[in-house]
Amino acid sequence: MRTPGLKIANKFQRVCVPVAPAHPVPDIVDDAREGLLRPPRSLPPKYFYDEAGSLLFTKICETREYYPTRTEDRLLASHAPDIIRIARPGQIIELGSGNSQKTRRLFDACENTDHTCTYAPFDVCAPILEETADQLQAEYGWLHVTPLLGDYHAGLDHLPAFTGRRLFVFLGSTIGNFEPGEAHTFLREITAIMNPGDYLLIGADRVKDTRVLDSAYNDAEGITAAFNLNLLEVLNRELDADFNPCHFRHKAEFVPERSRIEMKLVCNATHQITLKELDETIAFLPDDEILTEVSYKFTHDGAEKLLEEGGMNVVKHYEPENRYFSLILGQFI
Ligand code: SAH
Ligand code: AVI
Repeated sequence: MRTPGLKIANKFQRVCVPVAPAHPVPDIVDDAREGLLRPPRSLPPKYFYDEAGSLLFTKICETREYYPTRTEDRLLASHAPDIIRIARPGQIIELGSGNSQKTRRLFDACENTDHTCTYAPFDVCAPILEETADQLQAEYGWLHVTPLLGDYHAGLDHLPAFTGRRLFVFLGSTIGNFEPGEAHTFLREITAIMNPGDYLLIGADRVKDTRVLDSAYNDAEGITAAFNLNLLEVLNRELDADFNPCHFRHKAEFVPERSRIEMKLVCNATHQITLKELDETIAFLPDDEILTEVSYKFTHDGAEKLLEEGGMNVVKHYEPENRYFSLILGQFI
């Protein structure tokens, strides 16, 4: 099946091409029914990214404590020329592209070597995708931008066809937000749609001093807390629910045995929530938790293993002196 020709009209000049799911994807009603009604409570992280959540994520990336974005950006600034020289992509296709800020390093490297390609950012958040596509198109006149709107867990099989060499890009250590089994399946799914010779560039955050990790998810300005609590606003809007964010607090800590940050919303007071869309109520007690995100941290070898077990060869592994972050270029042969 091909992607439907239908395009979503909007206030921006670029129109997003919807990527139809290849199999049914649970929606927020299904996920809330599955994850919220009884403990242990959890929700998939994709619901963070409404327009407000995406803007808060951009602000997280600018905090002093959240080192991953800065570190990955510096790696890209240094190594983008090498990556473009090796990959020579006809298309750069980015999964979970957000504001594509760091990807500009790749476009700059193309520009500096007179290499041209197209760019397909793929994300679930329409407003950020549209605005970013407009900005990029205006700034990089030679770059043909086709924003793809959809869920990358189900849409990979329906990406628009492309005949040249593709560089898939998955930055920000978003792979860390997957459970290990999901990460393995996802990388296998990417390999399944690659042609021999295609590349994948992936960012993976590394294990480090617990204090550095904990403070990255507990910034002093409270932006990560606001990002986490915004999930309750999403639930209120989408499920006609009555969560009061004042009754919950943000909690995030590194759990060494699992090599992951666990981010939670913790209840402060005994109260009851009504979710009209689900026709359900939930009784909360003090210290009841909702697991809202996991963020796995990898070792050097563990990060390489992700690609290798996904069916790719590791071509380059870039890391900074402090070994805070891995940027790995893999190829499917
Ligand atoms: N790559 C960017 C953004 C990372 S934030 C960076 O490195 O800064 C994670 C991004 O993935 C968000 O833009 C979010 O909207 C998107 N996302 C999360 N779950 C998704 C899903 N299931 N399908 C498509 N995009 C998703
Ligand atoms: C997108 N993702 C990799 C971020 C992370 O670090 O897990 C999301 C985030 N959550 C809190 N801060 C940043």
